[in-house]
Amino acid sequence: MAKSYHIITFGCQMNERDSETLAGMLEAQGYVFEEEPKKADVVLLNTCSVRENADKRFFGVLGQLKNPHERNPEMIVGVCGCMMQQQRIIDMLKSKYPWVDLVFGTYNIGEFPRLFANISREKKMLVEVWESGKPMEEGLPQSRAFKFKSYVNIMEGCNNFCSYCIVPYTRGRERSRRPEDILAEIRALAQDGCKEVTLLGQNVNSYGRAKSIEGSYNWVTDEPHLDFAGLLREVDKIPGIERIRFMSSHPKDLSDDMIACFGELKHLCRQIHLPVQSGSTEILQKMNRHYTKEQYIALVEKLRAACPQIAISTDIIVGFPGETEADFEETVDLCEKVRYDSAFTFLYSVREGTPAAKDPEQVPEAVKHQRFDRLLDVMHAIQEDKSAADQDQIYDVLVEGQSKTDPGMLTGKNEFGKTVDFKGGERLIGQIVPVRIVKAQTFSLYGELL
Ligand code: SAH
Ligand code: SF4
Ligand code: F3S
Repeated sequence: MAKSYHIITFGCQMNERDSETLAGMLEAQGYVFEEEPKKADVVLLNTCSVRENADKRFFGVLGQLKNPHERNPEMIVGVCGCMMQQQRIIDMLKSKYPWVDLVFGTYNIGEFPRLFANISREKKMLVEVWESGKPMEEGLPQSRAFKFKSYVNIMEGCNNFCSYCIVPYTRGRERSRRPEDILAEIRALAQDGCKEVTLLGQNVNSYGRAKSIEGSYNWVTDEPHLDFAGLLREVDKIPGIERIRFMSSHPKDLSDDMIACFGELKHLCRQIHLPVQSGSTEILQKMNRHYTKEQYIALVEKLRAACPQIAISTDIIVGFPGETEADFEETVDLCEKVRYDSAFTFLYSVREGTPAAKDPEQVPEAVKHQRFDRLLDVMHAIQEDKSAADQDQIYDVLVEGQSKTDPGMLTGKNEFGKTVDFKGGERLIGQIVPVRIVKAQTFSLYGELL
């Protein structure tokens, strides 16, 4: 019988994409996917360290694998991803989870087959974590989660060093892939039936720019080359690609040329995720974000002038060190002015090794929670109000599969990134079909196939 694997992925889309690479490498060796982690011969945990509860969830899930690992002498457990780039985590694994077979980091995913071949359960934990990256690797295998849509990494790493954020330490300096490699990958995806691509990077707006930063491994030379807007224009021309999305963009690098793409390009979805983090200019400065509240609002106005229907989503951190009631009110005010289509709201979480962690003005937990709840109420009211406008609209929906809650229903996404459920047969999965919205709820839309 073929040996089996399971990969548990925490964190962002970049981790999801990395897990598809790891799955591709295992499948190339004949391993097959096993739904139940405890039954698999190989279990990998691809971790995230962006907030403390991501760390905690990882240790919880890892702990549950100890008994199955003990019972099955053939079972291999490996851990990788952003948490592994921190020495304190490696130390904790060595002292409390010495039974883990393999530990590797974000920079050496390409090394996985070699490391995997060297594991033996009798020996002690094999740890290989690199301190920094090399240019992003090309040509690694991929086992795609969906045939009709795919993530495409265009760059990795971050040079922004927002004062709360661990990502620049876990993913290293910005490295961009060559445009020709990205375009070749997307052409191949399109030929394989892929209709939607999501271009991924920690900060896609600075694609191809990082050449001046010391220590950055980047392909960029002094020759003229595509920036992010230029790359989007090229992707837009690829036959078969009907939808283009991207994640994430930093407001400070959102160029006018990039904004113009929303009005110009045929396949670029009218949707942008534009993390604001806070509405207080003072807090934004302490966060090292390089824009003011007013500059952010002006960007939103420009986006809406270029593309009136654009859906805008954001990330907000509540309770950053030193945040006063007045600062928080600025965030509420900004949200009311921008009227986001959706927002991810986070409680500030101390990340060891980042500048904000050392700030003596930490906000008490109870205050953070109270502000968080208030912001959710504000957002909820805005979204409820906005979603009423979806009633009776006709949207093109890319059908992703059967609804998890009701197998008689299909579920998919409209251009604006909203989930639409409707009745229909399985043969529509992977198609883009027109659907009229008959019931518009705040977080979900129900429709009828036309
Ligand atoms: N590179 C992306 C997102 C990175 S992490 C970007 O800059 O847009 C995703 C989100 O996690 C961030 O936008 C931020 O809102 C949140 N986040 C990052 N560090 C955090 C911390 N220490 N505490 C709480 N939220 C955090
Ligand atoms: Fe983190 Fe800021 Fe970089 Fe985003 S831009 S990954 S929030 S440091
Ligand atoms: Fe988490 Fe790493 Fe992504 S810290 S958010 S998995 S880049």
